[in-house]
Amino acid sequence: MDRKQNDMTPHDAAEALRWLSEMGADEIIGEDPVNRLVAPAAKPAPAAARAAPAPAAAPVVVVPGQSAAAFGSLQEIETALAGFDACPLKKTATSLCYADGNPEARVMLIGEAPGRDEDIQGKPFVGRSGQLLDRMLAAVGLSRTAQDRESAVFITNVIFWRPPGNRTPTDAETQMCLPFLIRTIELQKPDVIVCLGATPAQRLTGRTDGILKLRGKWVTANVSGRNIPLLPTLHPAYLLRQPAQKRLAWRDMLSLRQMLDAH
Ligand code: URA
Repeated sequence: MDRKQNDMTPHDAAEALRWLSEMGADEIIGEDPVNRLVAPAAKPAPAAARAAPAPAAAPVVVVPGQSAAAFGSLQEIETALAGFDACPLKKTATSLCYADGNPEARVMLIGEAPGRDEDIQGKPFVGRSGQLLDRMLAAVGLSRTAQDRESAVFITNVIFWRPPGNRTPTDAETQMCLPFLIRTIELQKPDVIVCLGATPAQRLTGRTDGILKLRGKWVTANVSGRNIPLLPTLHPAYLLRQPAQKRLAWRDMLSLRQMLDAH
């Protein structure tokens, strides 16, 4: 067990176990525990492979969009959003839903838009998909309530008000919210960004492929001149509808863990 696993609270450990069991891990196949979060020691490569060129680095994508650069803190962004009347979604939403988690976190998670529960509580990912997300994070030693930046996450969305009936946000709505998201990334300065679902993944990578094609492949997002590793993964709401796909999300969580451990 490495330090991050030992640091889990009993609650996080129980959540991680629940997530593993949901993924179908329902039996123990060895006497001794194996920490699968630790990458196996690399086997020496055959001579021919050693001579081969190194694999290409993650492609760099420049995240398009203006920054709401006037704002100097996350609190200022939230206050500005509370008084921002240009986005029509504000008229139909109950609350502004800006962000949750630890602003010092190494990991920023970006979802699509608040749903019904988020609209009521004014916080991202607090409904059923948020509960699944919390279990996925706990399985790799991460939590939105963690105080230390190593195990903490910061969570936000591309859109800050619930679209009526949870419809997909329009391009105009996304464009209006984007400067605030870009400024949030600039100020929060994550080491790693994880995009939950197609909307944030496509918006931040500029790609139009579906999420099943984008997921699991790291890119380097250049946000206002700063390079940040970005991993698209499946949205937890999709995983609730397609539980068999949790195995893909699990691979992505392991990949995230490895990226954090390596940097
Ligand atoms: N889905 C999202 O993309 N974001 C939320 O905050 C909740 C559900």
